[in-house]
Amino acid sequence: MPKPSYHILVCTNSRPPGHPRGSCGETGSNAIFEKLSMGIEQKGLFGKCMIANTGCLGPCGVGPVVVVYPDGVWYQKVQPEDVDEILDQHIGQGKKVDRLEVPDELWG
Ligand code: FES
Repeated sequence: MPKPSYHILVCTNSRPPGHPRGSCGETGSNAIFEKLSMGIEQKGLFGKCMIANTGCLGPCGVGPVVVVYPDGVWYQKVQPEDVDEILDQHIGQGKKVDRLEVPDELWG
């Protein structure tokens, strides 16, 4: 297996409905994980890019949260229709998707 150039992390943590912190699971992150996984296969990116689901990554209020390493780019509120853009533009061409990036202000 070749060493991948990119690693995508998708928070799929779930909390009970009504929990004050919310969760990426509640906002649909499992569907994002599945669509990214399928896209990696369909676009022939397996080997270049690995994907893993994770527990809570921190910024629960802006989920689903997706992180791309080694670039350290954090994406917020990712929707199924954003998946192709992340794979084609970021993984395929090395250009992050600015409109989906978690704003600097969130990090305090
Ligand atoms: S639940 Fe996804 S970042 Fe906390």
